[in-house]
Parts: sequence; structure tokens; C-alpha cells
Amino acid sequence: MRARVPRYVVAITGASGAVYAVRTVAALLEQGCELDLVVSDYGRRLLRDELGDEAAVERLMPYLEEKYGAGVRRGGFDLHSNRDMGATIASGSRLTRGMVIVPCSMKSLAGVANGLSRNLVERAADVMLKERKPLVIVPRETPMSLPQLRNMVSCAEAGAVVLPAMPAFYQLPKTLDDLADFLAGKILSALGFDQTLYPDWTGRVER
Ligand SMILES: Cc1cc2nc3c(=O)[nH]c(=O)nc-3n(C[C@H](O)[C@H](O)[C@H](O)COP(=O)(O)O)c2cc1C
Repeated sequence: MRARVPRYVVAITGASGAVYAVRTVAALLEQGCELDLVVSDYGRRLLRDELGDEAAVERLMPYLEEKYGAGVRRGGFDLHSNRDMGATIASGSRLTRGMVIVPCSMKSLAGVANGLSRNLVERAADVMLKERKPLVIVPRETPMSLPQLRNMVSCAEAGAVVLPAMPAFYQLPKTLDDLADFLAGKILSALGFDQTLYPDWTGRVER
């Protein structure tokens, strides 16, 4: 059964790229989604290290509204502890339409690839795979080891979309926010939305 309100799980883990996480959360909220948000300990650290204390998870909604405008109030989110294995999203009975892990650390990638369910991020991802729901994984690491590459293959074989944090440059980005828009747009497309965060490719670079 599909959720009446579009409800998605968003996980933020401790890989570099906090700006991708906040842009994705804001874009889903602008679409009127209700989110189940879970942030790992290192994800919490990343938000503050890369975006400042004002982006701390406890202050996330005001931060998003300040940065992206009042449109984020079209949606909302419930914040879950990564230690709460009894949270709603630990069960396949939760009516969600899919999940994104953005950014996804190599540790969390390994946990998902091997079905470890050591915390709520990994368990919720495992639920998506077993329920055959969309799971978008946004890994960030470079270079990559063979185990890391194999873990991405395992996730893809299990049905996840592996969408590396690899922004493109053909849309001539001018700011970091342009790069974040591109990646968040890719994530929304992978989740089935008609996104408008970056322009469609027209066949040539538009100057
Ligand atoms: C500032 C900072 C940047 C990091 N960047 C990455 C990264 O880009 N990719 C990655 O896989 N791990 C990165 N790490 C390491 C992870 O945060 C670490 O492996 C952590 O245990 C991941 O746990 P989590 O997946 O539960 O968040 C970074 C850590 C810090 C403190």
C-alpha cells in the first residue's frame, strides 16, 4: 500500500557533502513530503562541521527555511534516533515510498550491502530492499577500495540505485549551491519526482 501523504525516509551519515543532504531534505519538503529523518552520530557532526552550528539537526527546519525559503514548510519531518531500532521505519509496515541515504559513508554502505542492520539507518535501508521499495544510496569517497566497489555492486544487485555524489559541470554551475541543486535533482528523479532543480539537457551547453 502507498502512503497517502508522500512519505520518505532520509538518512544522513558521516560522509562529506552535508550540503547535498540539506538540499535534498529541502527539495522533498518543497514537494510536500513528510520525512522520517535519521542522522548518524557522524552525520550530525558533518552538518555542523561543514555548514555551521546553525545547521545542527535540532535547528534544521529554521535553517532550511532561512536558506531555501518558506516552501519547505509544505512538508515536515519526524526525527528518529539512529539507536532506536523500535522506530516506525524499522518495520516494513511503515507506509513509506522510499529512502535516500545522502551522503552515505563507506561504513554505512558496507552495513547496507551486507544486511547488517546495526543501527536504524542500516535497518531502514534493509527494510526498503526486502520490501522492494526505492532505495537511493549516495556514496562519497575517493579513491575507492575494492571492498567499497564490491559493496556498491551488492547494493545495486539488491535493487538500490547507487547515485554517487558526482555533480556534473555541463550546466555551468557558479556556486556550491548549484552543485547541490544538481545532485538533489538527480536524487528526486531517482525517487520518481519531476524535478526542476537543474535544467534538462538540451543537446548543447547553454551559456
Ligand atoms: C570530517 C569528516 C569527513 C568524513 N568524510 C567521509 C567521506 O567522505 N566518506 C566516508 O566514507 N567516510 C567519511 N568520514 C568517516 C566516517 O564519518 C566514519 O567512517 C563514520 O564511522 C561513519 O559512520 P556513519 O556511517 O554511521 O555515519 C568522515 C569523517 C569526518 C569526521
